[in-house]
Amino acid sequence: MERIDVVSPIGIHDIALATGHYALNLGELAERRGVDPGKYTVGLGQTTQTVPATDEDIVTMAAAAAKQIVAEHDAGNIRTVLLATETGIDQSKAAAVYVQDLLGLPSSTRAVELKQACYGGTSALQFAAGLVHRDPDHQVLVLTSDIAKYDVDSAGEATQGAAAVAMLVSADPAVAVLEPGSGLYTANVQDFWRPNYRSTPMVDGKLSVSLYLEAAEQAWKDYEARGGRAIEDFAAFCYHQPFTRMAYKAHARLLEVHGIGADQERLDADLAHTTVYNRLIGNSYTASLYVGLMSLLDHAEDLSGRSVGLLSYGSGCVAEFFGLSMVPGYRQRLRTAANRAAIARREPISYERYRAIRDFELPVDGSSKVLEADSAGPFRLRAVTGHSRMYEARHLIQA
Ligand code: COA
Repeated sequence: MERIDVVSPIGIHDIALATGHYALNLGELAERRGVDPGKYTVGLGQTTQTVPATDEDIVTMAAAAAKQIVAEHDAGNIRTVLLATETGIDQSKAAAVYVQDLLGLPSSTRAVELKQACYGGTSALQFAAGLVHRDPDHQVLVLTSDIAKYDVDSAGEATQGAAAVAMLVSADPAVAVLEPGSGLYTANVQDFWRPNYRSTPMVDGKLSVSLYLEAAEQAWKDYEARGGRAIEDFAAFCYHQPFTRMAYKAHARLLEVHGIGADQERLDADLAHTTVYNRLIGNSYTASLYVGLMSLLDHAEDLSGRSVGLLSYGSGCVAEFFGLSMVPGYRQRLRTAANRAAIARREPISYERYRAIRDFELPVDGSSKVLEADSAGPFRLRAVTGHSRMYEARHLIQA
């Protein structure tokens, strides 16, 4: 292999989105919960939430996002698949292995799952950059895929959602260069966690909001202390969005720390483009920050040559602030039409159907269950048998 003396820029070469089959209107949920719809649409900043079909999970969504990337690049260069999730389907086997198989990637591939609540995707992105730095011919498929599900009639229910974002990380990327330097913050706290025996998380919502804000401030201060860019150097900001108003709270804190007035006009100008997709999808945990990035890139003016600041937060907690520098011409590589279509084609469902999907359970006693086709994406969960999930590739070309 040729020796590289000058470090090539490393970053996001391609990026793609997938979400689930159904959409629940939060107006209907508000009616059922007896709350003013404004609490959800204005107070939380959410309009609809994705509800995955009974034959969808984090594997089918991750594969649907990644398929779009693999279709356009030489899969032989992908040596690693890193899948970040906090709604894993197995305590031992990585969901990335199922995705590697569904995509038909070579067996000479490394496939691993990563976890740290909603922060896991950012760790995957940073680890991917390290692998590419070590071998610039190496490309890494970073997958973030999650289904945010809270107890029925809990405060978190209105923030549910589901999505996957796939990113191809390579040297000389076509979309965005990962800037050197990060601000980091870790603290051992109990704001949101999910013990192995639970399907929904334990959550102290108010605490998680205040810890998110504290972690964002500390990560930013670490970033600055390590010689990071000044706040004015960023053309845009993206935040992890458990609900879109959270981005507004976090950005207001960042501006306040710098003595900058955080009025609504300024906040809207800085953030509105980043919240369009999340407002419709809901929380997607590890994918949420990157759904926000895609929303920004699909709606903002040309940011070529400019920097975007990203704040990643995962309860528990870990936060990271880092910058992406947009590669000139990146807009030609975006999948704006496909991203919009993935959200627009979701089938609206009634509250009753939403509850039926929630109540649907896969066998946990080793018995077999063949699932009826409920979704329409390129991959589906076909059956569970002997405690194993069996997937099916429909070989559709996703629009
Ligand atoms: N019109 C407009 N806004 C309204 C409203 C109405 N009719 N009714 C309430 N609101 C506002 C509230 O003032 C509040 O705004 P504020 O945060 O700016 O004060 C917002 O809506 C939410 O109301 P609140 O009463 O705080 O909601 P809640 O306690 O029922 O739930 C969370 C909010 C975030 C705690 C809850 O959604 C949750 O637990 N989410 C899961 C965890 C999470 O997302 N954590 C985030 C960090 S990771």
